[in-house]
Amino acid sequence: MKLWAGRFSKEADKKTNDFNSSISFDSRMYHEDIEGSIAHAEMIGECGIIEKSEADAIIKGLKDILADIESGKLAIDPNAEDIHTFIEGELTERLGQTGKRLHTARSRNDQVALDIRLYLKKEILNIKAQIKELIEVICKKAEEYSTAVMPGYTHLQRAQPITFGHHLMAYAEMLLRDVDRLECAYRHTDSMPLGSGALATTTYPIDRSITASLLGFSNICQNSLDGVSDRDFCMELASVLSIIMVHLSRFSEEIIMWCSWEFKFVELDDAFSTGSSIMPQKKNPDIAELVRGKSGRVFGDLMTLLTVMKGIALAYNKDMQEDKEAIFDAVDTVKMCLTAFTPMIDTMRVLTDNMRKAAANGFINATDCADYLVKKGLPFRDAYKATGTLVALCIEKKTTLEELPIKEYKKICGEFDEGVYEAISLENCVNGRKVLGGPASENVIAQVKRVREIIQKL
Ligand code: ARG
Repeated sequence: MKLWAGRFSKEADKKTNDFNSSISFDSRMYHEDIEGSIAHAEMIGECGIIEKSEADAIIKGLKDILADIESGKLAIDPNAEDIHTFIEGELTERLGQTGKRLHTARSRNDQVALDIRLYLKKEILNIKAQIKELIEVICKKAEEYSTAVMPGYTHLQRAQPITFGHHLMAYAEMLLRDVDRLECAYRHTDSMPLGSGALATTTYPIDRSITASLLGFSNICQNSLDGVSDRDFCMELASVLSIIMVHLSRFSEEIIMWCSWEFKFVELDDAFSTGSSIMPQKKNPDIAELVRGKSGRVFGDLMTLLTVMKGIALAYNKDMQEDKEAIFDAVDTVKMCLTAFTPMIDTMRVLTDNMRKAAANGFINATDCADYLVKKGLPFRDAYKATGTLVALCIEKKTTLEELPIKEYKKICGEFDEGVYEAISLENCVNGRKVLGGPASENVIAQVKRVREIIQKL
């Protein structure tokens, strides 16, 4: 029987009931719903709104329900309208009249807002811990490969030499910003809506600070209309998760490229690759591809939330029930991606020789060759032009700047001498770039140290 049976003369149509119900996706919040109800019962008991003895009976009843769900003794009824109705109904079945007092000074509107906030606060911390773990793995690899020279790219064309450690640490920086954004989303989620009632609070003398402190909230929603209809924290979290997925997806794209025979910069561990049903030679980077592909789901979830919220008048509207599947999917997807991604990075084999060989081709030391002439007093534009001519000559002679004889250099510019070979050695090109943020191995080590210090405090 529905909560509102008194007002209605007919049962809900069966099909409508399924359409209206959210139990299939909000039952995962049973713990938060019970936690919230326990705090609410304690508060209304303390404020003298219900008898203390009744509050105690309700709290015990709720704890029993929680234990029974957790042990599998009590199954959540898939026909219930939502998790709030189910728990309250079960309590009333167990306690009779006393159970019916729980919902005094409360509405499902502030109840559901509370449950989602409690649920997401935990999940934000879980995701933060997972990102921290990924950053640790990146730091470990970066330290290990701080001297591994590889080509750095722009436009996916070989550009200038960098180190693999430097490349990896770029992702550590992105992920650190993600952690910062998660912390900001956490702060906005950490506000207690209970007491907002359906939309206009209540005439009972409740004390919202009691519930807030029992439930571990730092703030209390300051306007009841906002308290029940704010889903900014869901949209914000979905945007943060979308940005995380952009980062994981870009990283995945690079892994996929690096695994190809055209690059062969890394090889994924067998445990994190798959074969082909027809081509025996294949080893596919499925996990990285799935992470790249799943980013689309999370962006879709963000779009769902923005669209659901954009046109609804204050305060609660049933449209808002659509928030949960979207934000839960975004959270689940990011957690799943990180669970697979981190050990994939941790176990991948780095083929430094191939990186070094790729760096040797493609004239990625041409800038350094020009800079060498500048150091001899030439204006940069003239040095740039002379080096361009040398590169064209090397292409014609199928050779590299390192192998081109000094007499050829001198023909193009008299300022060249044997010292040029040292100036354009890739190791010197990399290690000469030691300004803050640069690829030199000593910089990579410093970057790793800094990032480790930051994450230790998280
Ligand atoms: N299942 C509902 C939701 O997820 C709970 C709130 C219901 N409130 C209401 N006034 N119908 O949003």
